[in-house]
Amino acid sequence: MRTRILLRISSVFTLCLLLYRLMHLTPQHLEPLPLPQYFTEVDFRFESRLIGAVSHIDTRFSPTKALSIDQVHHALINLLKSYFFIMKDLGFETWLAHGTLLGWHWGGRIFPWDTDIDVQMSPDVASPPHTIVTVLSHVDVLALLATDYNATVFQYLDEEEIHTYLLDINPHYLITSTQDLSNKIDARWIDIQSGKYIDITALRRRDLDPNVLYCKDGHEYMDEDIYPLQVSVFEGIDVKIPSKSEVVLVTEYGKNALTSKNHHWYIFDDYSQTWMPEQQNNG
Ligand SMILES: *[C@@H]1O[C@H](CO)[C@@H](O)[C@H](O)[C@H]1NC(C)=O
Repeated sequence: MRTRILLRISSVFTLCLLLYRLMHLTPQHLEPLPLPQYFTEVDFRFESRLIGAVSHIDTRFSPTKALSIDQVHHALINLLKSYFFIMKDLGFETWLAHGTLLGWHWGGRIFPWDTDIDVQMSPDVASPPHTIVTVLSHVDVLALLATDYNATVFQYLDEEEIHTYLLDINPHYLITSTQDLSNKIDARWIDIQSGKYIDITALRRRDLDPNVLYCKDGHEYMDEDIYPLQVSVFEGIDVKIPSKSEVVLVTEYGKNALTSKNHHWYIFDDYSQTWMPEQQNNG
């Protein structure tokens, strides 16, 4: 019973801006890149140490007062649902990454103390989505997202409510250098009601070795660690994960992160497959 309304607001203006940016690209060898940060956030701090210290909210859509932790989790789940549903529909390959992937390893849930979501995207798509004839040439995924879907507002209807999300592509995606530290996030899927968002980074292939993929945030992967993507379930939602999630997680967080059942004042309960607070009243 899920339906979806797609409202396009991206315009000729975006295209012109893109062309302008292409023509005025900063040389990549400059160090550090003197680029302004495109995505910014406000942090609401929580008192309790049982939840993440801060709740990242997109500056432009910040509510006036902090959300409760339940509202944060509700917003995160709906971000995930809408994002994976709509990206699948549009034909983009995307999967869980970083802390969100670690949560998948531990019982397939967002960590109770987590306040954000990370995903990655394939660097290229085989053919533009919704085409009948398969186009064999590969298209840069961010260029396609930027020209076809940037600044697009999506409405996602679940059983109870309508949620409105904005897909926003960082104009600095054209700079591929990992030295562009302020713009390592390529795109955001933003819940414009709560300001919560999913950070999206696209993998890029190394020019000299296309078997090696990297993100602007500095992480590097071998092709076979990511592909073929695996189908899985996270928070009851159909998602994708890397081919060798354990390798990816151990490289990023160390072996201990996959075995230690004591994290962030929580203990993992094998029976219920959930994280339980270490002791009562320690907030
Ligand atoms: C996407 O749209 C936003 C809002 O109009 C704009 O600020 C941004 O530069 C655009 N991104 C790209 C890649 O053109």
